Amino acid sequence: MKVAILGYGTVGSGVFEVLNKNKDIIMKKAGIELETAYVLDLRDFPGDPVEKVLTHDVNDILNDPDVKVVAEVMGGVGAALKFTRAALEAGKSVCTSNKELVATHGSELMKIAQEHGCRYLFEASVGGGIPLIRPIMTALDGDDIIHMKSILNGTTNYILTRMSEAGAGFEEALGEAQKKGYAEADPTADVEGHDAMRKTAILASILEGKYVSCDDVHTEGISAITVTDFKYARRLHAGVKLLSVISRENGKITAMVAPFLVREDNELYGVKGVKNASLICGNAVGDIMFYGSGAGKLPTASAVVADMSEAARCMAGRSDVRQVPAWTEEHANVVSYEESKNASLIRVAAADEKEARKAFGDIREVAPSDGEFAFITPVMSEKDFKKAAAGLKIIGRIRTDFHD
Ligand code: HSE
Repeated sequence: MKVAILGYGTVGSGVFEVLNKNKDIIMKKAGIELETAYVLDLRDFPGDPVEKVLTHDVNDILNDPDVKVVAEVMGGVGAALKFTRAALEAGKSVCTSNKELVATHGSELMKIAQEHGCRYLFEASVGGGIPLIRPIMTALDGDDIIHMKSILNGTTNYILTRMSEAGAGFEEALGEAQKKGYAEADPTADVEGHDAMRKTAILASILEGKYVSCDDVHTEGISAITVTDFKYARRLHAGVKLLSVISRENGKITAMVAPFLVREDNELYGVKGVKNASLICGNAVGDIMFYGSGAGKLPTASAVVADMSEAARCMAGRSDVRQVPAWTEEHANVVSYEESKNASLIRVAAADEKEARKAFGDIREVAPSDGEFAFITPVMSEKDFKKAAAGLKIIGRIRTDFHD
């Protein structure tokens, strides 16, 4: 079966490499040989093996009826959306790592795919190389997933790990992450939590089978985290992690991305560097954890190629693949973020201790740093937190993943 790759950047060149390197293995597993017939990119790559199949014109791919599966690894929501729509409308399955496109236009694209007898698959859009979407959609069919706590952004996890373990400054750690190719071109998307927000919206939509938009995911990034926060974290035997938290109850869902203090006894504490992980709680299976490389050329390519293999089996009419879309255009019943409940570590000036005690009631004091009063609040809703904090000058707040 002929396949094509849209984009020859980091992930695209990885997909090209994996399709070539593992050709025989894929053939053995899928029962179909995948032949890369075209790679689309505006640039030229003199001396690169891709030259033989390189095209600058997407119509070469769209007009070739033998191309049945397309990998869209261009990124963005401009040309990527246009080409994806056109490929699906031409009856070609599309597999992508493009979380921005999936989170914003996924419902529409899955609908087009269904109408045209093809697939829109996006395993690589969440958790990079970790098989996460397919297990949720198949292996956990027997479970009601109650909550998911995940580390979904490699760049911020890398930065937080370097800040914690090497005492590196934020800018220095970000520079290292960019050099290693983990960060998005615009690091704001990583650092301010937008990348994790998109991934969270995708997971939440899958869990509900209905659309959860990025606007439904309350999002805070890590740019306000300081060296002092890590001092407090160490005193509490905890680390700071940018968590994606999804909770489901009685047909309603809440989803949030924010920095959390995660204690040493939590499985997510040991997830360091660029690694991602997802701790899933199902009502039958209990807690299970998925762990691996959440970013990078070959891990992400691994997930794209796995989708291409599934899409190829589907296009060949094999019945061993799931056919229903991951979610519909109907909007999920999302509970306001104001109702979500957590405890938090709060730092105020030492002079404000009395006022803080009065506002928050039953607090747990934490050994303070110079001139500060620090404490853990009771578990409270965001709405109640806002009320209690209204008159206080808070130096720093980090939610905690523990309550005692
Ligand atoms: N910038 C993303 C990350 C890449 O750091 O996780 C993978 O989506």
